Amino acid sequence: MVMNAYKRYLITSALPYANGPIHIGHLAGVYVPSDIYTRYLRLKGMDVISVCGSDEHGVPITIKARKEGVSPQSIVDKYHAIIKKSFEDFGITFDIYSRTSSKTHHEESAAFFKKLYNKGEFIEKTTEQYYDPEVNQFLADRYITGTCPHCSNENAYGDQCEQCGTSLNATDLINPKSTLSGAKPIMKPTKHWFLPLDKYQGFLEKWILEDHKEWKVNVYGQCKSWLDHGLQPRAVSRDLDWGVPVPVEGAEGKVLYVWFDAPIGYISATKDLTPDWEKYWKDPETRMIHFIGKDNIVFHCIVFPAMLKAEGSYILPDNVPANEFLNLEGDKISTSRNWAVWLHEYLEEFPGKQDVLRYTLTANMPETKDNDFTWKDFQARNNNELVAILGNFVNRALVLTHKYFEGKVPALGELTQYDKDALSELPKLKQGIEKNLELFRFRDALRDAMNIARLGNKYLADTEPWKIFKTDPNRVATILNISLQITANITILAEPFLPFTCAKLAKMINASNLGWSKGGDTDLLPSGHVIEQPALLFDKIEDDEINKQLAKLMDTKLQNEVNSKEVAPQKEIISYEDFIKMDIRISKVLAAEVVPKTQKLLKLEVDTGIDKRTIVSGIAEYFKPEQVVGREVCVLVNLEPRKIRGIESHGMILMAKNSDDSLRFVQPNESVDSGSTVS
Ligand code: 2FM
Ligand code: ZN
Repeated sequence: MVMNAYKRYLITSALPYANGPIHIGHLAGVYVPSDIYTRYLRLKGMDVISVCGSDEHGVPITIKARKEGVSPQSIVDKYHAIIKKSFEDFGITFDIYSRTSSKTHHEESAAFFKKLYNKGEFIEKTTEQYYDPEVNQFLADRYITGTCPHCSNENAYGDQCEQCGTSLNATDLINPKSTLSGAKPIMKPTKHWFLPLDKYQGFLEKWILEDHKEWKVNVYGQCKSWLDHGLQPRAVSRDLDWGVPVPVEGAEGKVLYVWFDAPIGYISATKDLTPDWEKYWKDPETRMIHFIGKDNIVFHCIVFPAMLKAEGSYILPDNVPANEFLNLEGDKISTSRNWAVWLHEYLEEFPGKQDVLRYTLTANMPETKDNDFTWKDFQARNNNELVAILGNFVNRALVLTHKYFEGKVPALGELTQYDKDALSELPKLKQGIEKNLELFRFRDALRDAMNIARLGNKYLADTEPWKIFKTDPNRVATILNISLQITANITILAEPFLPFTCAKLAKMINASNLGWSKGGDTDLLPSGHVIEQPALLFDKIEDDEINKQLAKLMDTKLQNEVNSKEVAPQKEIISYEDFIKMDIRISKVLAAEVVPKTQKLLKLEVDTGIDKRTIVSGIAEYFKPEQVVGREVCVLVNLEPRKIRGIESHGMILMAKNSDDSLRFVQPNESVDSGSTVS
């Protein structure tokens, strides 16, 4: 629909799961575009609210809580605070950042369910589901592991095999096992409520495929594929003890499915924000836009609209500009593999550089296909674009104004054709930004915003005011007046993308009340207007800072390789008394020889500090005698003597076996006297 037909805007951003901090993929996919768009509308003076919050239900949260031995509430409390702070730190300006464990949300989602229930919108169905007979609990798919029928991975989850990527049903697994107790699950009947999506097939086909042909190709395509396959009823309840209890009789031990309650979180957040919430949700003159990542498309374009339609009193989203995914250095971002740039860590390492990350993520936004974040590109965007184009232009304009005109905007003289041409670009660039933003083309919009700085640089380079001040100060006055008008335009028009920078810039040019409508104007700063001393907007990022980040990722990669290797399971618990019985001493190897007629055994003479003794050790395949002589080693000296190949061995040398089966001596990292005890 045409944008101006709407009176107000409701912007929603996918509620992040509160089971971990957020990373650059989240920012690039959802929150940076949503914030750019919202800031743009606010600057235009629109009635707009932007709502978000933490998604605090769902099985992964209960799994994390169980693993850490804490309650799900304490998990979500921790991550809600971390996520909220990251958003604030990066200038993601939600009008409210709420959470789904709140009272308002529990009430709102229960009421929503109840309304559909009373209208007879659900189908009640009893189906057989896996149940753990030892802990007496139905098992969510994630709580079941077993062998993948496709690739034979023995540790596939009930909903997906992470080895071959196939999505599974728990009943597909061979030898299923409950992760709660290790028991073999049994099938047991359980009742659930289903939303009959098939009933909305016709409505959704018309609404999306006919009325919303303008949606992004990736979004429209995914919707079409779902619709072409034919929609099926979907269960909206689960057997779980964490979530919003199903608010009807006979539903003990059941909660709303997380994807039923989460989008209602947008409504409850709005309700928490303003008593006037209904006008944003129920008036067709409100334009609702959902910012999400591609994995959320079906829920926002099909399931939630069907829920809203079934409820009957709500508006539907007018657009759902979902992005694809951002990768990191060529590999999929992954929380479990720690393959990510976490926002809180970024800020510790690049303090004050929020806009550099916002800029890089916008320039590389995965708008139409998955994209890659690399540290080298981050450095190049900072050094070659933000420093060399934007920072350089603004600095030159401001420094020259101080140098030649005591920090006052000089008067505009007669304009040359070249001046007029340069100034005429400003409204065109503004239009470009607007058009691209309205089409959710954030990368192109950013390019247009940076083109204002490019225009300024070219203007200064072509007019060279520093060469003519002595001979033609009036001409320099005009050039700098124009340069300052270009700077003021950047302050307005780059704000949605670079809010921290533009706030600094507004202070430097002493102009904080420039609204979007003034963008494109060429008389924003009157002559005589005083500007402040300039400070550098950006500084160069050096190679060693980037190399440090790359080294950190390399460490993660190595760590992941080690983690993915099989590690021997822990042996049974021993008492402290058992432990202190072992007498381990630092010893020195005095002599070594291969035990005749063997390949594996070395006969070692060692000085234990207590005595000199013989030890036979099975390390001959790993070490030659000369590699061992002179080493400091740890010896278990009170091990019962044992005859090996006719030689009495009086102790054991401690060795560590690496994941590649190589052996390493356990030895002190600095020299220690023989006979010292190890404990
Ligand atoms: O994919 C996710 O991270 C979900 N927590 C998004 C929920 S969006 C909305 F429906 F709440
Ligand atoms: Zn598999």
